[in-house]
Amino acid sequence: MGGFAQALADAGARAGARIAAALDGTEGPVRDAMIYATTGGKGMRAFLVLESARLHGVGMDDAAPAAAAIEALHAYSLVHDDLPCMDDDDLRRGHPTVHRKWDNATAVLAGDALQTLAFGLVAQTGVPDAARLTLVRSLAQASGVRGMVGGQALDIAAESAATPLTLEQITFLQSGKTGALIEWSAMAGPRMAGADTVALGKYARALGLAFQITDDILDVEGDAQTVGKAVGKDATAGKATFVSLLGLNSAKARAHALVDEACDALSVYGNEGCTLREAAQFVIARKS
Ligand code: IPE
Ligand code: IPE
Ligand code: MG
Ligand code: MG
Ligand code: MG
Repeated sequence: MGGFAQALADAGARAGARIAAALDGTEGPVRDAMIYATTGGKGMRAFLVLESARLHGVGMDDAAPAAAAIEALHAYSLVHDDLPCMDDDDLRRGHPTVHRKWDNATAVLAGDALQTLAFGLVAQTGVPDAARLTLVRSLAQASGVRGMVGGQALDIAAESAATPLTLEQITFLQSGKTGALIEWSAMAGPRMAGADTVALGKYARALGLAFQITDDILDVEGDAQTVGKAVGKDATAGKATFVSLLGLNSAKARAHALVDEACDALSVYGNEGCTLREAAQFVIARKS
């Protein structure tokens, strides 16, 4: 394994180890559910934090708390996303969802505690105070009503909308629900270094959209065993996705175009950007 695959595996392992260490000495179902919910993911967001940090000369040990933070935040978003009052899913990462393995109350509380854990972790990032504060504030923004939560609210509202959403509305919805955390991850490196975030911001906006389009395509074309979650649910639920609006072929073409756009944004990094380019190709080629 080399390049991107190795970096992705390392990032996931680092984030998992940090989260486990942060929960050391705790016990009970909420704690167990937190570990469960942060296990078995691809680690894509942790990878983006660590790779963007590397590009800006920030050490892996210094950046690791931020990588763990975003994986904890992401895991919280998934635990709540799967709840009966949201997407009502029974399978996640090939295993029962948290509320199926435990119960709704444990899933709500584990999600809550993963969110606060994320802020505790990001505050431990090994960078100067001003950069740390920027990381904390930007994570609050990316997670909340201007970011992931706002996008999730639009996603749920779209299920019962009287008219289908426009392309512009779907793009806005997706850039909140999925894009905001991916953008935060890729911009974390330059933020830690006090450097310009423009190039990685552009990269991540395109990457985040391509990521969600692929998720929506897998819901149509994937099989549950490989994807690790139920498939064929978006159309039944009446979700507003690029696939529902454009159809599979145009959605695929759009995802490809977005990957090109993401890669173009990396030109300032020259050859150093090749692992992020591989990541962009992976985002649309993945089967889970
Ligand atoms: C799934 O994200 C939810 C979306 C934002 C589409 P991932 O596909 O990154 O989930 P894991 O962490 O690898 O399971
Ligand atoms: C979820 O999007 C995004 C967040 C959890 C913020 P989806 O609902 O499409 O994700 P999956 O398909 O359940 O992983
Ligand atoms: Mg959802
Ligand atoms: Mg869902
Ligand atoms: Mg989905």
